[in-house]
Amino acid sequence: PVNLSGRSFTKLLDFTPEEINYLIDLSQNFKDMKRAGVPHRYLEGKNIVLLFQKTSTRTRCSFEVAGMDLGMGVTYLDPGSSQMGNKESIEDTARVLGRFYDGIEFRGFKQTDVEELAAKAGVPVWNGLTDEFHPTQMIADMLTVKENFPTGIKGLKFVFFGDLRNNMGNSLMVACSKLGLHFVGCGPKDLMPEQGLVDTCKKLCEESGGSVTFTDDPKAAAKDANVLYTDIWVSMGEPAELWAKRIELLSPFRVTKELMALADKDAIFMHCLPSFHDTNTTIGQDIADKFGITEMEVSDEVFESKQSRVFDEAENRMHSIKAIMYATLR
Ligand code: CP
Ligand code: NVA
Repeated sequence: PVNLSGRSFTKLLDFTPEEINYLIDLSQNFKDMKRAGVPHRYLEGKNIVLLFQKTSTRTRCSFEVAGMDLGMGVTYLDPGSSQMGNKESIEDTARVLGRFYDGIEFRGFKQTDVEELAAKAGVPVWNGLTDEFHPTQMIADMLTVKENFPTGIKGLKFVFFGDLRNNMGNSLMVACSKLGLHFVGCGPKDLMPEQGLVDTCKKLCEESGGSVTFTDDPKAAAKDANVLYTDIWVSMGEPAELWAKRIELLSPFRVTKELMALADKDAIFMHCLPSFHDTNTTIGQDIADKFGITEMEVSDEVFESKQSRVFDEAENRMHSIKAIMYATLR
């Protein structure tokens, strides 16, 4: 039987396929309870703290609502309001917060920072996104895939279009390799993932029956795909000056209706969000004015289409974060 009590959740690489599947199934249980209005205040009396060095909508709100539904007290610390990183080291922050709280969420830049928190805090630490990985998103994403392919997700063709070096490209490649999906990374040669991580994933595939391949041909990638996934072209923490270069490099990899037409007839579109599928945001409008484009990584048509699962996926963040906290704090 799977027992994750006391474990931190800083990257999916630390977990076995059995443990990952357990968390996905537990997320489904919490989703069913929430839908049925069944109370689940299983962690009453515990307290958690959420440390954010970057902005967030889904991750912060998921941890807050999940924490409250489980009966816990929740403290949110925004990028400017704690001593961490400015006056106090990560190591000292970890040792202090570990005395107050039963669990710590961290969203920041360096993966080594979340690992250090986990090593020093003495309580479970959950990675709410770093430049390298976004592991809580993976449980929500694989739950979403499972909901749409209930007969099994092993063997599905899962294509990620875009910046293969970012946290989402890395994390999805690991998740697919652990769970036996066929991951296809489709992007320009300049934005391929680190070879070391690719080698690790290929090893995992020998066990799981999955595969990892790369192409810069979007049509070949989309052909017969079951899941088409993309992410923003410039990630949090990257300089705004990168937009010009990224638009030039990544425009051929926009997920369009034409690409969706090449995929399997039951294919779904996914995106972790936030997304620039239109220009209804300040940054989106800025880019439209500067570069004359109104859509970036995905066309508005695909984002709004029947095949799009992006809001189920967003909802699933909350259920899966609940599962991760429950499994590690129980
Ligand atoms: N997908 C995701 O992590 O969204 P936020 O940045 O809004 O938390
Ligand atoms: N790659 C994106 C993911 C946001 C959830 C970023 O890091 O900004």
